[in-house]
Amino acid sequence: MTAKRLIAVQSKWIKTKVLLTNKSIKPFIPDTRKFNANNLRSMINQYRMIYIKPECGTYGNGVIRAEIINEQSYTYQIEEKILKFKSFTEFHKSLIKRIKKRRYLIQKGIHLLKHNHRRFDIRVMVQVNPKGKWETTGIIGRLGHARKIVTNYHSGGKPMSIESLLRTHLSKGEQHHLHKELDTLGIKIAKHLQKTYPKFRQIGVDVGLDKTVSPQIIEVNTSPDPYIFNQLKDKSMYRRVMTCRRASLKK
Ligand SMILES: Nc1ncnc2c1ncn2[C@@H]1O[C@H](COP(=O)(O)OP(=O)(O)O)[C@@H](O)[C@H]1O
Ligand SMILES: [Mg+2]
Repeated sequence: MTAKRLIAVQSKWIKTKVLLTNKSIKPFIPDTRKFNANNLRSMINQYRMIYIKPECGTYGNGVIRAEIINEQSYTYQIEEKILKFKSFTEFHKSLIKRIKKRRYLIQKGIHLLKHNHRRFDIRVMVQVNPKGKWETTGIIGRLGHARKIVTNYHSGGKPMSIESLLRTHLSKGEQHHLHKELDTLGIKIAKHLQKTYPKFRQIGVDVGLDKTVSPQIIEVNTSPDPYIFNQLKDKSMYRRVMTCRRASLKK
């Protein structure tokens, strides 16, 4: 049994456009535009920190985090490399050289919450359960590698329980509220995407949180890795995820 039978949509641009058509999901989507000089200039001036990423990337590959310090000082990081520039033109030229002819997107940067000086985000797994209903089967935190700007497991990120990551940021009550919010948001996204893609049986939503703790949708994966849930000591989420996965693959 392989994931091949579970349908996948690669383009982050197409998925974002589909999500934006839903009024109640739209507020959770950070401004996302195609990479070009105009969008780069206006978005970095407006948001000060942005993420630049391949339209069809995975595993955090090729993802860039860029910042403007002032009109004479721009910087970006890719993997563990940090580069600095004295003008927008130099900054833009360097990005063009790296991106070449590939399609890239720019997204408003979220100042992700940190745990032990490392950024983390949240993966929300939503699947069709054996009863045929959408269910949020797992919510897990991903703690980024200390010197990286992505949290992906394949880029050195560490799957952790969200309780352990949120403990220092939120009270028990606030954590409970966020958990419920993510649960509902995940199901809403799945149901909405299914209108366009009726064959979807599972999605994994990457959610970023900053100091305001209002969830921001970084991307929606249509063939999410179930095995990150096996990295937790508590196997109950992993078992739920695998039960739904097996049921979907049988259909
Ligand atoms: N707008 C953003 N703000 C903050 N962090 C981001 C943003 N976009 C991406 N990231 C970080 O980079 C990681 C990879 O980006 P993502 O869009 O999920 O691409 P991929 O398909 O490679 O996983 C995210 O999990 C997150 O840690
Ligand atoms: Mg991702």
